[in-house]
Amino acid sequence: MKNVIEPLKYDNEILKLLDQRLLPLEEVYLTMKTIEDCYKAIQDMVVRGAPLIGFTGIWGMALYLKNNPKIVFPQFEQAANYLKSSRPTAVNLAYEIDRCVEMARNETHMNALYPKLVLHAQQEMNNLYEKNLKMAHLAEIELTKIYGDRPLNVMTICNTGTLACGVLGTALGVIVYLNNKNKVKSVYASETRPYLQGSRLTSYELLKEGIDHNIVVEGAASYLMKNKMVDVIFAGADRIARNGDTANKVGTSSLSIIAKHYGVPFFIVAPVSSFDLNTESGEGIEIELRDPNEILKYKNQYIAHPDAKALNPSFDVSDHSCITGIFCENGTISPVTTLNVTKIAGHK
Ligand code: MRU
Repeated sequence: MKNVIEPLKYDNEILKLLDQRLLPLEEVYLTMKTIEDCYKAIQDMVVRGAPLIGFTGIWGMALYLKNNPKIVFPQFEQAANYLKSSRPTAVNLAYEIDRCVEMARNETHMNALYPKLVLHAQQEMNNLYEKNLKMAHLAEIELTKIYGDRPLNVMTICNTGTLACGVLGTALGVIVYLNNKNKVKSVYASETRPYLQGSRLTSYELLKEGIDHNIVVEGAASYLMKNKMVDVIFAGADRIARNGDTANKVGTSSLSIIAKHYGVPFFIVAPVSSFDLNTESGEGIEIELRDPNEILKYKNQYIAHPDAKALNPSFDVSDHSCITGIFCENGTISPVTTLNVTKIAGHK
């Protein structure tokens, strides 16, 4: 399968991130030299998408070690906590950084850890490709049960492709995989206000893949489903609680509710690293509140009155009762119950 976009590059010990804020009109890479650069890139959404944020976390810790070869473990742990605080909702960031901390804890000579972290980051990205393929295959099996082999109209929200994962992708990975098997008729990409990951990033990836699609505004979801224009919805995840409640880009929850109302299958596609089995339900998931100016302004120009206020929750939680199934590399979780989540996603 082609991998047409490289959101993260590491060449000759130089880490570069594609500035996703400028896409699709400009493709500019920013060089990351320090852990602070990585923190800022995550917080400002130069890099985004739960898995890629996690990988950037590993690279951030590697850069910290490279720049501070004489540090001792408590300093490494402190730096890890700092980097983890760059964005709170996607559990992948904490998951990947915590693994770096475990590696450091078991290391006798901290300065031996840098090359190990670099290798680990590269392996994690490569492994995700295999995992994404497995999820796509599971989705194909499930869809065949429902619709046979006919090409489908698929809807998705936010961006969950190569730009979010570094490789194939989760929900968008399923769509690309199915399209390569001629099983996609057309895609509706929800524009995803306010950051426009759908219209700027998902459409850009779909164009590069040559997949027929329309960008739709968030409010069109009910129209599309009422008029039977959507066969299935795939969304990604930033954090999945023990009972299957799933935090993802704001707007995902309303999609899942409308889908349930109209009987449209609604699936989450996410690696095991996106599960947080220590959190009982969605109520325990911290939702990131972002800068109101992301709503009030567009390209630095006010589109609302300068005195207007805005509230900008960046994620919401889809109730497990509205989710038809979750595909992870360990299997298909359906129905979405605490028992099935722990049984299938309980081992990494
Ligand atoms: O704020 P973002 O762009 O990082 O949000 C991304 C999403 O919500 C994705 O759907 C999620 O991270 C899954 S990416 C495979």
